Amino acid sequence: MTKAEAQPRAELLANPFRPGNGVAPPYLAGRDKLLNEFERYLAETYPPHANWTLTGIRGTGKTVLLGEFATRGERAGWLCLERELSDRHRDDARLADAIADDCATLIRRCSSLAGFGDALERAWQYVRPRRVSVGEVGYEPAYEAESPDAAETIRSALVALDSALAQTDIPGVLFLYDEAHLLGDDRRQERFPLSSLLAGFGQAQRTSSRVRLVLCGLPTLSLNLKRARTYAEKMFRHVIIGHLERDDAWDALGIPLSGSGRTFELSLVGEIVERTAGYPYFLQFFGGFLCSRVGRADVLLDDYVALESSLLHELDLAFFEDRYLVAGGAGQRVLDAMAGAGGRVSTLSLRRSLADLPNVDVIVRRLVDRGLVYRPTRGTYDFALPLFGSYLRRRAELTELTRRR
Ligand SMILES: Nc1ncnc2c1ncn2[C@@H]1O[C@H](COP(=O)(O)OP(=O)(O)OP(=O)(O)O)[C@@H](O)[C@H]1O
Ligand SMILES: [Mg+2]
Repeated sequence: MTKAEAQPRAELLANPFRPGNGVAPPYLAGRDKLLNEFERYLAETYPPHANWTLTGIRGTGKTVLLGEFATRGERAGWLCLERELSDRHRDDARLADAIADDCATLIRRCSSLAGFGDALERAWQYVRPRRVSVGEVGYEPAYEAESPDAAETIRSALVALDSALAQTDIPGVLFLYDEAHLLGDDRRQERFPLSSLLAGFGQAQRTSSRVRLVLCGLPTLSLNLKRARTYAEKMFRHVIIGHLERDDAWDALGIPLSGSGRTFELSLVGEIVERTAGYPYFLQFFGGFLCSRVGRADVLLDDYVALESSLLHELDLAFFEDRYLVAGGAGQRVLDAMAGAGGRVSTLSLRRSLADLPNVDVIVRRLVDRGLVYRPTRGTYDFALPLFGSYLRRRAELTELTRRR
């Protein structure tokens, strides 16, 4: 038998890892404490904060957690509605419409779970759907001529939902909105989606403890909330989702492997934990890449060493390159300057090192909007993507080598 025949091909061996966007991992590591707190929050009628935010840089596992919240919420009897917000929701009226639609969907679920009739119809009037179908019958509700403002639309939709809920045994409704950092208010364009959302929920929650909101997004979300409403601070418990602690990162690799028919040498697991700094997306990516390239059940540190440059190259293409290119020439200069300074920089030092570049502040703000950079503290900036700094340094070295040739 030849050596090749003796070794099963990599694609025939198990690959338990799941690098991706919002893809549930084979094992959700390091989140037990938070999930227990979440279950306690659901069990309390009047928790210290009615709502939560989940913020963190790219690839830390926010969307996956939001999905887990929805699963656990439903298991506890709550109705959970997940929505990924997008650029179109930066418009107050569109956001209010989307929330009213969500309320309509939830009222419909209440109705089918509890089997109530005319209360549903009354609730519809507040939610203002474009067309209502109850069983086979559809009708177009008559709206008042004057359209109310966005906050009022949101408030009345939530109040309608609350009165529908009051007639059931359902403890409450959880709105789980992802990518909520997109909702920043924009005074210049006179768009105030976040203020409207906060005002609508804030007012409804004065009389209802049944509707709750979890906003999830990049770290800019916290800043946007503070800017939008001073009382936002009191409305939310702020949870920061970061990298996994060492032991949890080991589990994120080790537990999916056990029982998969494959093993990673211990020194290899240690190396991946070190190299990825425990960032969930990278743990999945490194694990998945090695499983897909090594045609042996037992993967060794030597395999990683041999494959490292192609792994990093693939990671650059899969994750970093596009993000760098969309930053544009001026944005790329800022990113390169940050990488050269080791990542975190003060606004002042950035302005100094890019003295010939006009409008550095505006360029940085654009990078923040794109989710490439965030503001950890007032007056400082850092990369919003883990390992982005080392990618940029790798890229700069390659460019330098090509230039010299
Ligand atoms: N606790 C965890 N343990 C192991 N893997 C995880 C964990 N959380 C997330 N992952 C994995 O990390 C990857 C990224 O997760 P997710 O898409 O939820 O991140 P995110 O923070 O929402 O990213 P983005 O900001 O880009 O939307 C997925 O492949 C997921 O399976
Ligand atoms: Mg996400």
